[in-house]
Amino acid sequence: MSAPNSKTAERPGLEAQIQRNPHPDFRKVERERPPFESDISWKYTQIPKTDWKIGDGANDTEWKKHKKIQIDPYGDSRKPVDNYKTLISAVTPRPIGFVSTVNRKGERNLAPFSYFSVVNHDPPLFTIGFSGGLDNPKDSAKNVIETGELTINIISEWFIEAANFCSTNSPFGVDEWKLSGLTPAESTIVKPPHVAESAFSIEAKLVTHHEWKSKLDPNKSTGTLVIVEGVNFHVREDVINDDLNIIDIAKLKPVSRLGGITYGRSITGYESLRPDYEKDVVNVNKI
Ligand SMILES: Cc1cc2nc3c(=O)[nH]c(=O)nc-3n(C[C@H](O)[C@H](O)[C@H](O)COP(=O)(O)O)c2cc1C
Repeated sequence: MSAPNSKTAERPGLEAQIQRNPHPDFRKVERERPPFESDISWKYTQIPKTDWKIGDGANDTEWKKHKKIQIDPYGDSRKPVDNYKTLISAVTPRPIGFVSTVNRKGERNLAPFSYFSVVNHDPPLFTIGFSGGLDNPKDSAKNVIETGELTINIISEWFIEAANFCSTNSPFGVDEWKLSGLTPAESTIVKPPHVAESAFSIEAKLVTHHEWKSKLDPNKSTGTLVIVEGVNFHVREDVINDDLNIIDIAKLKPVSRLGGITYGRSITGYESLRPDYEKDVVNVNKI
């Protein structure tokens, strides 16, 4: 991989294309909104249709009133940035991996990524998608691939502002920890620190990576996927049960990413039993 990256030259252009901020005057819009409701606590409701039966389908008929439009991701005049905006607003809510890395010189880096998920548990595996190929990598991607180490931290409501600020397009080597005011906590197995404020952090090692090429221009690298293995977890003692296997959503208060610049809260939920074919299909039909 080429050493210094040129992202600071490229990123402002990319951001101008994306036009991420939908408001001409964001601060005015924010001032006019009601304050954050910090006193809301997690509650369970019933599922929308408690008497749903086999074959009932959707619990509402609104969907029947609307036609569907097909979108060819590479159709005339459609740009990759349109797919980006569509996909990040459609595939929601997305978890956010708050990634801490260090570069070869030991300089720290911290940034949020919502092309992120857990994809296996034995071994614990996670995927992160970075925009930009290996010729123009984000600092986090470059560091993970060069050092093979990272920590992934779950973002909770109590530090969302600081975490969001770490997405700033700062030059390589800038320490987002300082900009954000967040606290680095020493990790046990990997060099990158984890976020002390985070209720759940994962120390991880690189398993493999793959570079994606543009379908419009196969010479252009557009993204880098990493698959990483979690080798150690750090959890705040009050958010996990005594068996150390279930995190309390009411206490975790995870932040999710929706479309554009919108974040989501998890404040209500409902439960539903996992259907068993013998019990819920075969036996029911015998009656
Ligand atoms: C909530 C959130 C989610 C993001 N998700 C991604 C992502 O999945 N992939 C990506 O390349 N950039 C993503 N970004 C943008 C990066 O955080 C941003 O480019 C950051 O400057 C990268 O930092 P780095 O170059 O220090 O690694 C996201 C930003 C925010 C605020």
